[in-house]
Amino acid sequence: MKIAMIGTGYVGLVSGVCFAEFGFTVACVDKNPAIVKRLQAGEVTIFEPGLDELLARNARDGRLTFTTELAETVAEADVIFVAVGTPSRRGDGEADLQYIHAAADEIAAAMKPNAVVVIKSTVVVGTNADVRDRIAKARPGVPFSMVSNPEFLREGSAVEDFLRPDRVVVGVHDDAGAAAMKRVYRPLYLRETPMIVTTLENAEIIKYAANAFLAMKVTFINEVADLCEKSGGNVQDVARAIGMDNRIGSKFLHAGPGFGGSCFPKDTRAYAATGRKMNAPQTLIEQVVTVNEQRKRSMAERIVQAAKRSGAKSVAVLGIAFKPNTDDIRESPALDIVPALQSAGLAVRAHDPEARSAAEQVLTGVTWCKSAYDAIEGAGITVLLTEWNAYRSLNLKTVSQLMSGNILFDLRNVFNEQELEGSGLEYYSVGRPLSCGRSRVKSDP
Ligand code: UDX
Ligand code: UDX
Repeated sequence: MKIAMIGTGYVGLVSGVCFAEFGFTVACVDKNPAIVKRLQAGEVTIFEPGLDELLARNARDGRLTFTTELAETVAEADVIFVAVGTPSRRGDGEADLQYIHAAADEIAAAMKPNAVVVIKSTVVVGTNADVRDRIAKARPGVPFSMVSNPEFLREGSAVEDFLRPDRVVVGVHDDAGAAAMKRVYRPLYLRETPMIVTTLENAEIIKYAANAFLAMKVTFINEVADLCEKSGGNVQDVARAIGMDNRIGSKFLHAGPGFGGSCFPKDTRAYAATGRKMNAPQTLIEQVVTVNEQRKRSMAERIVQAAKRSGAKSVAVLGIAFKPNTDDIRESPALDIVPALQSAGLAVRAHDPEARSAAEQVLTGVTWCKSAYDAIEGAGITVLLTEWNAYRSLNLKTVSQLMSGNILFDLRNVFNEQELEGSGLEYYSVGRPLSCGRSRVKSDP
């Protein structure tokens, strides 16, 4: 079976490489020649643990190729996956489907009869049916199947998520589409991964509802953290206990500076926009969007207030990526927080193990540092924004000695009392109270 993967971003590249690992012949197409050139040379264009090894092996064995030639690749493919981006449209937050439509038109012109067209990109309900009609109109009388196959890959563990998913969701409108999906996911099927075969519309809603629910869970625990700070509670203890209830579950209950990334912000906006458009208001998710935006601002405000109080002139920011193990900075809280600190007159020194080159293109006036300790040196305030493992092992006594001031904002609740003991740091975390040792440990400045 020959697979074409259109779009080699985070989702397309991981999926294409993993299908080759399953043993299929996969041709990955991207319209950006620079990306394709790098991939052809064996260079992995994104940072994703485990991907380089799989890409090298499958390319070497001849199962995985990269090209800019969509038409000739599609003409030979049995199954054509679409994984082009679906960014938020400016203003209304609706998903911008222009790349999906452009890809659909090109696929329609080139596909062979009985091809299976699969949309992997996150698209609002109704899109798969529209694309099916669009292709049918362009190629009247040519049989093909339309499938919606949303992805649930987390950046940083995308390969693992692809190879060991909780479930695979496929929306279909005919038996041929369902049969093709059973073949491509057969290696998982043998591992007894549940496959939900449902309608196109259900598959589309499942994707948005899953991401919206997870974003809501994060936002919920962030507000619980606020209450803990005001009342002397500890959000980690609360999260642990409520998470033990199987109906709630322990995942996605880490309080932090607000969610970011390429999916949660855009998907919650698009889901809310769809609800408004279809007159089925998703009021909880509307609130999630607003509360999360406000949270990023309020985190910056906490730091600015601490700077005013302490006379600090500079801030060391550790972590720009929206989460660890990725070089992706899309809608990262850092992109709101760093400029807010700068507009309050604070100098920012920053470090990130993987995201620096992406960050340099969007954040200006930042002093980029080679290591966390380098960033911290001379800073009045240190802010931990992304919980990279490298930061967990920082020696807090050294941190305190290197800084000109002594304030540490740990917005990911990485450090504990023992680590702070004797460091002399004035420590603020999220949703955790208390003082310990000689360090002052507080949550609300
Ligand atoms: C994906 C999904 O497509 C998106 O719907 C989901 O919500 C998140 O994950 P992602 O892989 O992160 O998006 O997108 P991006 O990294 O922007 O990559 C898209 C790639 O497709 C780019 O390399 C771009 O050059 C390519 N592309 C885009 C095409 O080849 N053709 C196009 O017409 C548009
Ligand atoms: C998400 C979904 O998890 C995945 O299934 C979907 O396909 C794409 O979107 P991703 O964006 O890679 O994946 O990251 P995720 O791990 O979900 O984190 C999203 C954001 O929420 C990050 O900014 C993260 O820091 C934040 N988060 C997550 C928290 O603040 N607390 C948590 O407990 C979990």
